[in-house]
Amino acid sequence: MTKTWLVTGTSSGFGRELATLLAQQSDINLVATARKMTDLAYLDTYDHGQIAKSLLDVTVADQITATVQLAQDRFGGIDVLVNNAGLGYFATIEESDTAAVRHLFDVNVFGLAAMTKAVLPIMRGQHAGTIVNLSSALGLVTLPTMGYYSATKFAVEGYSQALQQEVANLGIDVMIVEPSGARTNWAGASSQKDVPTIADYDQFKAQVAGTDASAGSEPGDPRQIAKLIFEQVTSTQPTPKHLPLGHFASAGAQAHLNDLLAEIKNLSAISESADQA
Ligand SMILES: NC(=O)c1ccc[n+]([C@@H]2O[C@H](COP(=O)([O-])OP(=O)(O)OC[C@H]3O[C@@H](n4cnc5c(N)ncnc54)[C@H](OP(=O)(O)O)[C@@H]3O)[C@@H](O)[C@H]2O)c1
Repeated sequence: MTKTWLVTGTSSGFGRELATLLAQQSDINLVATARKMTDLAYLDTYDHGQIAKSLLDVTVADQITATVQLAQDRFGGIDVLVNNAGLGYFATIEESDTAAVRHLFDVNVFGLAAMTKAVLPIMRGQHAGTIVNLSSALGLVTLPTMGYYSATKFAVEGYSQALQQEVANLGIDVMIVEPSGARTNWAGASSQKDVPTIADYDQFKAQVAGTDASAGSEPGDPRQIAKLIFEQVTSTQPTPKHLPLGHFASAGAQAHLNDLLAEIKNLSAISESADQA
């Protein structure tokens, strides 16, 4: 049976690779979205009547409504929503720019939430659907200068884990994807960098200043990541709740979670003593 996928942020990176893969499947309808329609011209090669393009900035409510309506009108529903659109931000916590941080949350968290809220009534009506939320390895473990980016992805984790429990009996799956660094525009054009100017943070200067130069040499292959997301949604039952991708997301997160577990165990007597009749 033909399934309809709606993917946000298909102009570049994971979104573009996933859209390219989906556009080649005869049993998939694709709603591809971008902030500039010209960024979707690459899909014309594959169009055989099962691709709809929509202008979508996930911070613009009217564009969300119009995109979801387009999917309904053209294909009669939405089976898979991929909340992929996202930005990066590199700065120490103290030196982060408040306006930049608010915009980061608007896109990475509130944009994803607004898309989800718009699509959930359709999926509840179908009693079926899959929501794929792009978190990050940095949604599991964090690093200096990545605090606010991680805060958005930790927010995506908490939001998605609650949603998993709320919609489990409604036929809706939620898969959280946690990629490690990959060769997309994310660390380059898609992220603001505020290089430390306070001398106490000099140790992080080179790291932030060098991000643009090192962007593009990350280990993660966006095409392979798109393929893995596609395979997990289409071929794995039950759909995994988490999809950590790359060495850092796997080994790095395991080391962090083992440390956290050990810390919680060490404190268990004190923790338990907080509950008093
Ligand atoms: N690459 C990595 O290392 C990595 C690792 C873990 C997680 N991620 C996450 O993966 C997702 C995809 O990123 P990517 O790595 O593929 O980077 P990318 O190549 O920069 O792609 C990001 C996409 O999001 C779109 N976007 C940005 N702001 C938007 C907005 N307000 N409304 C709608 N679309 C918007 C971009 O569109 P424009 O072209 O118009 O800017 C672009 O299509 C993000 O959520 C990112 O946080 C990336």
